Amino acid sequence: MADNQTLSTRHLLGIKDLTEKDIHLIFETADTFKDVLNRPIKKVPSLRDVTIANVFFENSTRTRLSFELAQKRLSADTINFAASSSSVSKGETLIDTVNNILAMKVDMIVMRHPYPGAGVFLSRKVDAHIVNAGDGAHEHPTQALLDAFSIREKYGDVTGKRVAIIGDILHSRVALSNILCLQKLGAEVMVCGPTTLIPKYIESLNVKVEYNLMNALNWCDVANMLRIQLERQDIKYFPSLREYSMLYGLNKEILNSLDKEITIMHPGPINRGVEITSDVADSKQSIILDQVENGVAVRMAVLYLLAGQR
Ligand code: CP
Repeated sequence: MADNQTLSTRHLLGIKDLTEKDIHLIFETADTFKDVLNRPIKKVPSLRDVTIANVFFENSTRTRLSFELAQKRLSADTINFAASSSSVSKGETLIDTVNNILAMKVDMIVMRHPYPGAGVFLSRKVDAHIVNAGDGAHEHPTQALLDAFSIREKYGDVTGKRVAIIGDILHSRVALSNILCLQKLGAEVMVCGPTTLIPKYIESLNVKVEYNLMNALNWCDVANMLRIQLERQDIKYFPSLREYSMLYGLNKEILNSLDKEITIMHPGPINRGVEITSDVADSKQSIILDQVENGVAVRMAVLYLLAGQR
């Protein structure tokens, strides 16, 4: 593989480690794989003889299935590990768990973990390539890549687009990775939500901050609606879900009242009727299922480019 076809990093731990050139390389590679995925025969031999372990210490539907399908489409050998049904419950440490998996000659680990920095920690201890599939409220790099790829697909370019990330920014790994990715690609980014769910450090990331939903919607080309992450909230950040929905929920009436057509995104899983109503989630302006479709091609690209460094 030529140098200009190589990522600048041997792991994908966060968007912060990628250059703009890396992101464009991932997108161009994903374009090719998206073509493959639309063919009658959707499988290529690119990762034959590469073994990948999907190691999930936290629940997942989209990310786990998407990585697994991406690996199968690339002809990789795949093993799956879910902490809930493993010896972690008997007290085994992360390093012991992973070293046991690596002893089975695994080349790459895709890991989701509740602790921020778990992927970085692992990358310092083992030789395999590590892909972060979400670490606590820190980063979710492949989600941000597939989100930006979907905006590029919709508009032809991400540069100059105005993207509002709306909802629970404080507990979101999707928010931080999206901010970093979109800014590297030249988009303008705003975050919007209740004051209690917007972290104080956010302004240091050079994003606009807005507490009024209508102002955010009137400003943006794309609204990325985030889920309220109740499972990460140890205290109450707003009086009730009903009140949150009244102030920050997006419904068809609000969408139709705007004087332009904005694009609606959501990383999933959706809390229908809380951050977004069904008629918005399923509307023509929504690209939520395009995001899911693009996730497979983007993850194929990431795995292919990292495996190419072996
Ligand atoms: N978007 C996302 O990470 O969804 P899952 O938690 O279902 O993987």
